[in-house]
Amino acid sequence: MVKEKGLTMSIARLALTVPALAVMLLLAVAMQGGTLSEAWAQSAEQPPASSEGPVGGAVPGNSLGTTSDADQWRAIRGGLQGSVSIPDTKSGVLIQSGGEGWRSIRNGPLMTYGSWVLLGTIILLALFYLIRGRIRLEKGPSGILIERFGGLERSVHWMTAVSFILLALTGINILWGRHVLLPVVGPEVFSALTLGGKYAHNFLAFPFMLGVLLMFVLWVGQNIPNRHDLVWFAKGGGMFSKHSHPPARKFNGGQKIIFWAVVLGGLSLSLSGISLMFPFEFALWQKTFAFLNIFGTDLPDSVSPIMEMQFSSLWHSILAIVMFAVILAHIYIGTLGMEGAFDAMGSGYVDENWAREHHNVWVEELQQKPDRSSGNSSRAQPAE
Ligand code: HEM
Repeated sequence: MVKEKGLTMSIARLALTVPALAVMLLLAVAMQGGTLSEAWAQSAEQPPASSEGPVGGAVPGNSLGTTSDADQWRAIRGGLQGSVSIPDTKSGVLIQSGGEGWRSIRNGPLMTYGSWVLLGTIILLALFYLIRGRIRLEKGPSGILIERFGGLERSVHWMTAVSFILLALTGINILWGRHVLLPVVGPEVFSALTLGGKYAHNFLAFPFMLGVLLMFVLWVGQNIPNRHDLVWFAKGGGMFSKHSHPPARKFNGGQKIIFWAVVLGGLSLSLSGISLMFPFEFALWQKTFAFLNIFGTDLPDSVSPIMEMQFSSLWHSILAIVMFAVILAHIYIGTLGMEGAFDAMGSGYVDENWAREHHNVWVEELQQKPDRSSGNSSRAQPAE
């Protein structure tokens, strides 16, 4: 009984001692923590002047790292190329800082200004339509048709047009789809559309490139600037006045801009697209910068393979957005904006009055050489 009482007392004492020890331990840790954090703050605010001993209670030594460490990490952070034992030498770059720049430009100004360019173009075209209205045939149809584009020209045009529009739509999805389409259609539909769109984007590049090449071959001769273009531009292409019909041969000044935008823009779009399709195979930018530096620019003369891809990606998107804006204006004038224009690429024939109002010099030239028009046999025929 006495033994049992002694045991109970010992358990009770233990029960009191354990919490007391725990509280003391906590207090000790808290005090220690306070001391450490004060020392940390002190060392951060006033690093010791020398490592010979404590100064003002601060921890001695260069606790923030040696200068050479900082220099080394700064160089690595800046994209220093080290050496690796595998064939992929670009893995020798530990931190590719340019990636952050690329990401922030792509997801920042590129997307913001890009959407403004496209929406702005649509708004401007809508305003132009509201103010100016449809450009109508001033004298009405004559009933006589003139062949404007032959079968080959129209096939090439539509192959290029269809592939470009699909490339533009799938490209827009690659850039903005995650923010615009995904919330509307949901992840499953979006991922199927985007995967299919990505394949379509890769394969449609080929008919587009072929189309641009053929357009160049077919139409370059008629798109060399001439004196009529200056008058055409001076008169604003006759766009702003109902009775003004500035002179033009087969293609007017505005159409020549479209032509060269498609040819030169298409070439640059194709080259940057090919470099994205076959990553790390080409050094386009290094060569471009070296070429531009001949004219006094101060562009980097060494561009790493990853930076090549980043430049290609940004340039490809910027150029595609600008080209799409130009093509939106072209589509507007070829459909809604001008009466009789679509027939030129639809049936290939236009009304003679349309041709005289918009391409008077071309009609005169056709009449002087009745057997040749647009590289095809000239055929004027009455409308049915
Ligand atoms: C629905 C879309 C399109 C329509 C309705 C359209 C309509 C037309 C029409 C009617 C013409 C002949 C103009 C004339 O007789 O003077 C033309 C010419 C031309 N189209 Fe298109 N087009 C479209 C898309 C495209 C696309 C996507 C491209 C290139 C990426 C393109 C490039 C050209 C070029 C270079 C010309 C010759 C120069 C000119 O007339 O501006 N077209 N188009």
